Amino acid sequence: MPQTETDTESATTAGAVTGADAATTADGANATDAETGTGTAPGTAPGTGSGLIPAPLRIDGPYRCAVRLGERTALAAAPGTEGTARWLRDTLGAAFALPLPPGPDDAADTLALTLDPDLPAEGYRLDAVTNWGVRIAGGSPAGVFWGAQTLRQLLGPHAFRRAPLAPGRGPVLPQQTIEDAPRFAWRGMMLDVARHFMPKDGVLRYIDLLAAHKLNVLHLHLTDDQGWRIEIARYPELTRTGAWRARTKIGHRASPLWDERPHGGFYTQDDIREIVAYAAARHITVVPEIDIPGHSQAAIAAYPELGNTDVIDTNSLEVWDTWGVNPNVLAPTDNALRFYEHVLAEVLELFPSPFVHIGGDECPKDQWKASATAQARIAELGLADEDALQSWFIRHFGRWLADRGRRLIGWDEILEGGGRAAPGGGTTELGLAEGAAVSSWRGYAGGIAAARAGHDVVMCPEQQVYLDHRQHASPHEPVPIGYVRTLEDVYRFEPVPPELTDEQAAHVLGTQANVWTEVMDSQQRVDYQVFPRLAAFAEVAWSRLPPPADRDHQDFGRRMTAHYARLDALGVDYRPPGGPHPWQRRPGVLGRPIDGAPPNV
Ligand code: ACM
Repeated sequence: MPQTETDTESATTAGAVTGADAATTADGANATDAETGTGTAPGTAPGTGSGLIPAPLRIDGPYRCAVRLGERTALAAAPGTEGTARWLRDTLGAAFALPLPPGPDDAADTLALTLDPDLPAEGYRLDAVTNWGVRIAGGSPAGVFWGAQTLRQLLGPHAFRRAPLAPGRGPVLPQQTIEDAPRFAWRGMMLDVARHFMPKDGVLRYIDLLAAHKLNVLHLHLTDDQGWRIEIARYPELTRTGAWRARTKIGHRASPLWDERPHGGFYTQDDIREIVAYAAARHITVVPEIDIPGHSQAAIAAYPELGNTDVIDTNSLEVWDTWGVNPNVLAPTDNALRFYEHVLAEVLELFPSPFVHIGGDECPKDQWKASATAQARIAELGLADEDALQSWFIRHFGRWLADRGRRLIGWDEILEGGGRAAPGGGTTELGLAEGAAVSSWRGYAGGIAAARAGHDVVMCPEQQVYLDHRQHASPHEPVPIGYVRTLEDVYRFEPVPPELTDEQAAHVLGTQANVWTEVMDSQQRVDYQVFPRLAAFAEVAWSRLPPPADRDHQDFGRRMTAHYARLDALGVDYRPPGGPHPWQRRPGVLGRPIDGAPPNV
């Protein structure tokens, strides 16, 4: 869309929702220009004029004429859009004291929600027209919901509050039309609730934060060496023993500091039902991760027979209190397979997600090398080595999930040790169950290999989108670990590697930012690492932008001015552009500030 200087000026004069302008316009305090203006400023580029993040595909406007939502504005919800209507009453209704009573969709002063099958499934069209109101049409209920997220952003930062600042005349937005649809179907964030538990309320809050950024997958890392966080009725010790640890290493594992307070917590099955339903109402899928065969010390502490009992005294193991890659992995026994089938059977009851994540990462093979039981299994199956044994373990659960209509997804180590179709069918040339997908975390290579072999891929390379990694080279970053990855670095991330053909690239379902919480012991610390970078990530995942070299970071930066005000209203403890507030620092706590460092602290 061409943009001249005049266009930009007109858009600004019209009270376009950028930065501080947004606040005044949304207050209604500065709406005169917009109300009386007769300008017909042509559209601006998708970003700047609107302050929207993620940037939409097309904006026609904003124009000088204003649209006001007020006490008498009705809400017309066509069949299939009732969920978004409820969400609008809960959010905009609360923020501006708008009753939004039901009404017909052809009256003036109406907020109308409809479905339009001609639009892309998650796409929407938003029309804001003076004296008429706002119309949001979606290609599906999800599309309507994403359109409602856009409307909330257009109404300024106060739309993100839970109660009005002051009784007012209702919010105002400029006349405009927005057409939008996402680039990727999988727009995810992984939250590690195993290393540090995030109580249920915090998870629900994160679901709202994902929705505000049009992200639609919450991958919950529910189990690890340091904690088991989901109630399994058949195996109560998993949470009785496995959900807490006696103490916790503070900072990198080389740090001498310990928090001597016991740490723990878990989600009951009713908590999980609530989380899943809350997410579904926001068109977000919760993908559970039960990590096998590595990262399993908490499970082994609860049920010692799951470990390699012929190598170590698994009865002496406790839930791990420090960080790193742990040697205590599951034994490749029938008992362990049945145990995890029973666990996963309960997981499937709770999570409707088509994908179930089984981890598969960082499984040291030392115990299997030393274990007569593991070696006997290798011989019995005619396998080449311990890597092939891991592949067999993963393939077992890939088939088990496929038999139940679900798809396995695992970290890219699940590609190791396979390398050929397994006897008995149901596997691909990489030795993975058909339909299995890969989370490519050690860079792009795993994702490229998987996509070339016809497997679906979620791109989440640690070099780009591990949000536990520090955001700046400054020593003031709290517990700095891993690579320096700034807001701009994340903004420039491209999920589809150029090596892939179009057909192979179609296997890139999307992308995901991963939040490992070894050095994040509170919600504030999680907020600090996640924001503002999740906003840049959301644009990568949603917006159809030119290749990274042409990505307009300056425009994104201008829109971030508006977005920081939204994050403030939401109460997000983000990293300020100038560096941490004094109270966000952790002086004296050792991180791992070595560029090029591996991710595990
Ligand atoms: C991972 O970061 N170990 C998947």
